[in-house]
Amino acid sequence: MIPTVAQCFRLIDEYRMLANIRDHSIIVARIATRLAEELRAGGHQLSVPLVVAAALLHDIGKTACLDSDRDHAAYGREICLAHGLAELAEIVGDHVRFRDNALGVFSEYDVVFYADKRVTHEQVVSLEKREMYILERYGRNDPQRLAIIREHCRSWRLVEARLFAPLAFAPAALVELIDRDPATCDFAGATETMLAEPDKIAMGY
Ligand SMILES: [Fe+2]
Repeated sequence: MIPTVAQCFRLIDEYRMLANIRDHSIIVARIATRLAEELRAGGHQLSVPLVVAAALLHDIGKTACLDSDRDHAAYGREICLAHGLAELAEIVGDHVRFRDNALGVFSEYDVVFYADKRVTHEQVVSLEKREMYILERYGRNDPQRLAIIREHCRSWRLVEARLFAPLAFAPAALVELIDRDPATCDFAGATETMLAEPDKIAMGY
């Protein structure tokens, strides 16, 4: 089952997602949606509703895991499974460490994984900026940790190359595309609609 936007926001409330994580998730969802729509326009088979839901819920386990060593991606996967959301569980569970299908093709998973890497907190950034941020925040000047992070970052670039190979615009242009056409992925607006008319929410696809 793929949840609607309204159902995603209900889960976000149920699991008490912090406001900043919620804002981050909305921006990730906007990027992922736009990317999926562009890829679909080029003939690639992708489920936009799956991309939207997985992006909105990719950090559903995070609030509960803050201040602990618990793996928020694994916990997020558990939450999805507990709600019968198996398709989402596969995306949410591997959104931190890249699971390469080794086929050189991409799926909804790659789109959500990549969109998350383009957002630091609530700001859209390049992969280079994101890498610098992660190295600084989690590297602790420890050569071993730094090497592991750099290895992760290589996988981000691999996904970026795969996703953008069929597209006519560069990764840097993604922000302008979203800004130019904000109504298509306005999930913040969707929340307000949901609160006003909970049964009438439409995703637009
Ligand atoms: Fe996360």
